Amino acid sequence: MNIMPNSQEARDIAYHMHAYTNAARHAEIGPTVMTGGEGIYVKDNTGKRYIEAMAGLWSVAVGFSEQRLIDAATRQMQALPFYHNFTHKSHGPAIDLAERLINMAPVPMSKVHYTNSGSEANDTIMKLIWYRSNAMGKPEKKKIISRERAYHGVTVGAASLSGLPYMQQSFDLPIPGIFHTTCPHYWKEGRDGESEEQFATRCAQDLDNLIQAEGPETVAAFYSEPLMGAGGVIIPPKTYWEKIQAVLDKYDILLVADEIICGFGRTGKMFGSETFGIRPDVMIMSPKQPCCHVRPKHRCAYNGRGKTT
Ligand SMILES: Cc1ncc(COP(=O)(O)O)c(C=O)c1O
Repeated sequence: MNIMPNSQEARDIAYHMHAYTNAARHAEIGPTVMTGGEGIYVKDNTGKRYIEAMAGLWSVAVGFSEQRLIDAATRQMQALPFYHNFTHKSHGPAIDLAERLINMAPVPMSKVHYTNSGSEANDTIMKLIWYRSNAMGKPEKKKIISRERAYHGVTVGAASLSGLPYMQQSFDLPIPGIFHTTCPHYWKEGRDGESEEQFATRCAQDLDNLIQAEGPETVAAFYSEPLMGAGGVIIPPKTYWEKIQAVLDKYDILLVADEIICGFGRTGKMFGSETFGIRPDVMIMSPKQPCCHVRPKHRCAYNGRGKTT
């Protein structure tokens, strides 16, 4: 590609480090610079229009340039453009949204905690799980199990929870105490002659074996996407979730449902947990604007992208 000196493309190559991008290749081909979006479309700086089939990174659930969102954001920027919730501070939109999310949750939840990204929400919940074990006088109950091919984000904890080798090789990840069990990918992992139900039984048995090997009293939580997204959009096999939940219940292990790309209607029902009959203890969710939740035993994290105002 012919990149003009001092163009947006040239300046992007010079100054901007991208996520999930081969830096050497980027220096050769440069970026596609987007300038606008409307409904399902975006357009680049040459005027070319695209259907944004992934809705931004699964983020723009109601379409680009939705007037109601522009108006609400404008009103809020004029009234109070930013405020935090440290040291007992709060504000109306945070209170209204927390109440609404608690009322929407598919199982009783107690509180909403706001973060700035899905990755941060997952790291935050890891910390809260460790905090909970300490508070309960069970400091040995700290291990967390996730799944091969899982995607939970880019930060140290979230990338450790993820089960994609390219996210971990060269970064000295995962951190200690994180383990990965079988990916519920029937098409790739199922054996010849094995039914979906038999495969689900094997996945639950693999989880049980891992918990036994590590020591059930040392395992605090199981992290999972109701439907795995970045790992390949993997629909769990029939009976998978009921069998996995039975194992977690047996050992009193918390179930964290990472709903970042399943929540708010993306799997047909309001949450992936409802679509697949999951009873989560913690929900990580994003419209995709950020959040996190917790049931009484249990919690919920709303991962909003960007500061909540
Ligand atoms: C299931 C899941 N969890 C966590 C994340 C990380 O969210 P963020 O990109 O907002 O950090 C993603 C991102 O798409 C995701 O798909």
